[in-house]
Amino acid sequence: MRVLVTGGAGYIGSGVVEQLLASGHSAVVYDSLYKGHRDAVHPQAEFIQADLLDAAALTSALDRVEAVVHMAADSLVGESVREPAKYYRNNVVAGLLLLEAMRGRSIRWLVFSSTAAIYGEPARQPIEETAPAAPTNPYGETKLAFERALHWYSLAYGLRSISLRYFNAAGATAYCRERHDPETHLIPLVLQAALGRLPEVTVFGTDYPTPDGTCVRDYVHVEDLARAHVLALDSLASGHPGGTYNLGCGGTGYSVNEVIEVARSVCGRSIPIRLGARRAGDPAVLIASSSRISRDLGWQPRLQDLREIVRSAWDALKA
Ligand code: UFG
Repeated sequence: MRVLVTGGAGYIGSGVVEQLLASGHSAVVYDSLYKGHRDAVHPQAEFIQADLLDAAALTSALDRVEAVVHMAADSLVGESVREPAKYYRNNVVAGLLLLEAMRGRSIRWLVFSSTAAIYGEPARQPIEETAPAAPTNPYGETKLAFERALHWYSLAYGLRSISLRYFNAAGATAYCRERHDPETHLIPLVLQAALGRLPEVTVFGTDYPTPDGTCVRDYVHVEDLARAHVLALDSLASGHPGGTYNLGCGGTGYSVNEVIEVARSVCGRSIPIRLGARRAGDPAVLIASSSRISRDLGWQPRLQDLREIVRSAWDALKA
């Protein structure tokens, strides 16, 4: 199948393109490069540098494909609280323009990058898809708004879509690695401190109700995450009616302290830390139940060990 990947020059997007191509699909990357990187576009993918708000470019790109993976978005929790207008414009308005353009071209299969942030501070772990959606920031709110639009478009217009609610994407592959600017994510910051590019890492909060007082997250390797998009597209093409799926490794997750310890051991370097205050909007624990995607799509993580995840990111950073 020929697939348009919005945000295909970004971290997870470039991993998705890699997996699509490895599975025999072809990919058209649609990315403004406002955050993505030209050299992250896979050499076998077609590349269109354009914004989703550019109706003419979008329509002509859609003429070439049968399905869409929609990943272009803003995705920083803290920034979303300070600048909600940006999140509504880029995550909701741009997304709706994409849906309208798809409708105009009768493209009916869509895989959407959603997030665990739609759950807010869930009462129970691991989180099932049936847990109430209660986002605590505009990032989660705008992703949820788009999920809801997909639901209504499905009922009225026959769009079939799968929303994948990512937990904490991490690690690297031959074609994709994390290089956000500014970087805010734990693992890349810890690795930069190991390399001496940062003087230290601040641990955001040590008084959470968790075993060691630091936040616990469910880290999922970007390659496993990317494979799920291919399974989702293939299942839509085989008649899947659409729905929402969590995407994480489950288990007991890893605390911030554990991530730093694993990184020290993988890198064989010291990583200075500073104990800091909580970061606004951080839930104490986020762990996925991925039993629904495992049951329906046959997805299982293959690279669950945090050591392997951190090692892949470390190797990519040093390369
Ligand atoms: N952390 C630190 N110090 C840092 C950076 C992060 O202690 O310098 C902590 C955070 O407080 C958090 C954990 O490390 O407890 C992980 O933080 P990240 O910023 O790496 O990831 P988040 O869990 O905040 O967010 C990620 C995605 C979001 C998504 C969320 C859903 O970036 O888009 O997972 O689980 F919404």
